[in-house]
Amino acid sequence: MKPYADRRARLLAQMEAGSVAVIGTAPEATRNADTEYPYRHDSSFYYLSGFSEPESVLVLVAPRGDAAAQSILFCREKHLQSEIWDGYRYGPDAAREAFGFDSAFPIDALDEHMVRLLSNAGALYAPLARGGEQQQRRWFDGVRRLARSGTSAPPVLRDLPPLVDEMRLFKDQHESAIMLRAGEISAGAHARAMRFAGSHGAGTVEYELEAELLHEFRRHGAQFPAYTPIVASGPNACVLHYNANNRRTRDGDLVLIDAGCELDGYAADITRTFPVNGRFSPAQRELYELVLAAQQAAFDAIKPGRKYHDAHDAAVQVLAQGMLDFGLLHGTLDEVLAEKKYTQFYMHGTGHWIGMDVHDVGLYRDVAREDKPSRLLQAGMAMTVEPGIYVRPAEGVPEKYWNIGIRIEDDVIVRDNGFQLLTGGAPKTVAEIEALMK
Ligand code: GLY
Ligand code: MN
Ligand code: MN
Repeated sequence: MKPYADRRARLLAQMEAGSVAVIGTAPEATRNADTEYPYRHDSSFYYLSGFSEPESVLVLVAPRGDAAAQSILFCREKHLQSEIWDGYRYGPDAAREAFGFDSAFPIDALDEHMVRLLSNAGALYAPLARGGEQQQRRWFDGVRRLARSGTSAPPVLRDLPPLVDEMRLFKDQHESAIMLRAGEISAGAHARAMRFAGSHGAGTVEYELEAELLHEFRRHGAQFPAYTPIVASGPNACVLHYNANNRRTRDGDLVLIDAGCELDGYAADITRTFPVNGRFSPAQRELYELVLAAQQAAFDAIKPGRKYHDAHDAAVQVLAQGMLDFGLLHGTLDEVLAEKKYTQFYMHGTGHWIGMDVHDVGLYRDVAREDKPSRLLQAGMAMTVEPGIYVRPAEGVPEKYWNIGIRIEDDVIVRDNGFQLLTGGAPKTVAEIEALMK
């Protein structure tokens, strides 16, 4: 449980003396009638606690004077009947022991303890955008009722996520190891889907490929897909968030699969695009090699000290030149870039932070500066690299490219000497893909 205690200590070190931070986990969610969605903890709560039961709240008290720092968990009590139906719960005593909190109490006692903990506290840190005002008012009212004994409520309310998000942006060793494994499992799932298409060929339905992905995730212990898989064949590949996954493939289709698992709370995010019949057509191959070159250009821009946005700019440069070379666009490269004409075929960014959330927390720009420049990459930051090209039928666009949609997406962690690729196990070159599908 060391990484969680270390993170709590690092957060506590950034808090004002004598202040209190409160972070709850995610609520359970009803799917319909008396059926619930599979439970998923809140990422930041889990980052600081390692505790994945619902109805839990973590409270951190920063040291002041002689008073030491405290980490306190509030969680569900042991309950035999509930455990017979729904399974094991730690209960406060076992949770304190197992997860290394200084103390732990039943969640029903939260209000009472918060009045005590907030009495004379310097500040309250909480996720301000998440609601909870009513609960906070109860706590503050409780403290104010003690005013005649000289007790005061915290005079300052501070937003907690900026502190935690910045910590989460830099992946520690514990996290990197899980992310590498999530990348390996997800890469294996893409290879499995390619092999399935290779042996079943055109006529395979998108959901059959989705089933291969899910099977491979789960059989290696991944708890969930990190997001709804996209299995987009033919023209569906040009719909960026397509996920109906119910079209029957046809000979000559490309299949774009964007899918990654969530393993122990960490996401992988991989896209591969392959011909359902196992052979790229000449036109498909031209655009595929272009996207691959754009991804390489983006990779070349990833090392400590480079701007976050350099990878995108490098990919766009290559894609825009290719669009001119292949007659998708006309004019000069300068025009295409200045007027952003390339967005007709490439309309999304080349990546995002990745971690516990697939689109992970962390600032992309230096918001303290007036001009908000792109922030510089530093070792430990994890990001995706995902250029693509999506050619919808349109006048003036060579027909041989119509309905081709290609994206190639990998996950990396920035390292001192460049980056570590987490998802290299998924076949990517034309030769690798065609060989695997044979
Ligand atoms: N799968 C979501 C994304 O690529 O951003
Ligand atoms: Mn992505
Ligand atoms: Mn993706």
